[in-house]
Amino acid sequence: MNRYASKRVASLGTTVFGEISQLANELGAINLGQGFPGFAGPDIVKSAAKQAIDANQNQYAPPYGIPRLQQAIADTYQRAYGLSADPGSEVTVTTGATEALLATMLGILNPGDEVVVFEPFYDAYPAQASFAGGSTRPVRLQTPDWSFDPDELARAFNERTRAILITNPHNPTGKVFTEEELDLIADLCQAHDAIAITDEVYDRIIFDDAVHVPIATRPGMRDRSITINSTGKTFSMTGWKIGYAIASPELTEAIRGAHQFITFATATPFQEAMATALEDALESSYYADLKSRYTALRNTMKAGLENAGLPVLPASGSFFLLADAAGRGFEDDVTFCMHLLREVGVAAIPPSAFYQDPSTAPILARFCFAKESDMLEAAAQRLANLSQAPAGS
Ligand SMILES: Cc1ncc(COP(=O)(O)O)c(C=O)c1O
Repeated sequence: MNRYASKRVASLGTTVFGEISQLANELGAINLGQGFPGFAGPDIVKSAAKQAIDANQNQYAPPYGIPRLQQAIADTYQRAYGLSADPGSEVTVTTGATEALLATMLGILNPGDEVVVFEPFYDAYPAQASFAGGSTRPVRLQTPDWSFDPDELARAFNERTRAILITNPHNPTGKVFTEEELDLIADLCQAHDAIAITDEVYDRIIFDDAVHVPIATRPGMRDRSITINSTGKTFSMTGWKIGYAIASPELTEAIRGAHQFITFATATPFQEAMATALEDALESSYYADLKSRYTALRNTMKAGLENAGLPVLPASGSFFLLADAAGRGFEDDVTFCMHLLREVGVAAIPPSAFYQDPSTAPILARFCFAKESDMLEAAAQRLANLSQAPAGS
C-alpha cells in the first residue's frame, strides 16, 4: 500500500506489459509481448528529425500542431478515406494517440458519464475514462470471429452514455469492423446523441481483402466522430509519440481545452519529421510496402503457432495474433503465458488483462509479430517444444 498514491491511481495497479517485458528481459526470452516494431523506421524520417534539430526547431510548437503536419494529416485522411478536415480547426496534434484519447475523455466527459467499449479493450481506456470521472461499459466481442451481439450493444447505450470508443483495427483481436457493423453503431450514436471515438492506430496494418473504414465517413457521423491516430505504428517510431485527433471544430475545441493543460504542445522536430513521413507516403509506395512486409510477418507467425499446435484466431488487421490455448490444459491465460515465458522462452500477453472481469476471458495468448522475421522464426523453433500443462498448473 503506497500512502502517497491517490485512490484513483492506487485502484489501477500496474500494466501487464511492463511486468511481462521485465520478466522477458530477466529470463532472456524472445519478447513478442509488448506491441512495438522491432525494426527501424524509414531513413528519410530519421534524417528529417536530425535536420529539424540542427535547424534549431527545438522550441515549443504551436499548441495544436505545426501547420505543415496538420496539413499532411488532413491530406492523408482525404486521400485514403475521402474524409476532408480543415487542418487549422479540425486537426490537433497530440503526444501519441494516448494523449489524444485522454484529452478526448477529459474534454467530453462529465462525472458519471459512460463510454461503451468493445471487450477485450485496450487497457488505457478504462483508466482514462476514470480520470475524467467517467467509466467504461463493455460489450463483448465473441470468439471465434469477434462479432458482437447487436442487442447487447443496443442495451449498453443508456441515458449516461456519452460516447462509444471503437478500436479499428482492433487490438488485441485484429478485427476490422465492417461497414454494416459501423452503421449499426452509427445508428445508436445518432439515436442516443452519443459521440463515436475511434482509435485507428493500426489503420495501415491490414491484411488480405480487409478494408478500413473510419466511422467518421459513414452517413450522419462526420460531426459526431473523433478520429484518433498515431504515426508511431505506421512509421515504426513508437518512441516519438506523435499522434492526432480529427474532429469537427466544436469537438476539437473540447479536446483542445484539455490538451492545452496536459502537454500544451508536442515535440517540434518530431512533428517536422512526421510531416515529411506523411508527405512522402502520399507520393511513394510506403503504405503498400508496409502492408506486404506485415503480411509476410503475419504468415511466419501464424505458421509458427500452428506448427506448435496452437490454433490462430482470424485477424484482419493490427500486428497481433491471438492463439487459442484452451486445449492445452492450463487453468487460465496468465498461467499459460507464464509457462511460455519460463519454460519455452517466448513472451506473449495474456489478453484477460483486456477484460473487465479477467476470470471470464477465453484462454488465449497475444503474440506481436512486428519483429524481424529471424526473431519470429527463432520464436517458432522454441514454440515447437511447447508441451501440455504440467500436472497441477
Ligand atoms: C489500440 C491502441 N491505441 C493506442 C495506442 C498508443 O498509441 P501511442 O503510442 O501513439 O500513444 C496503442 C499502442 O499500443 C494501441 O494499441
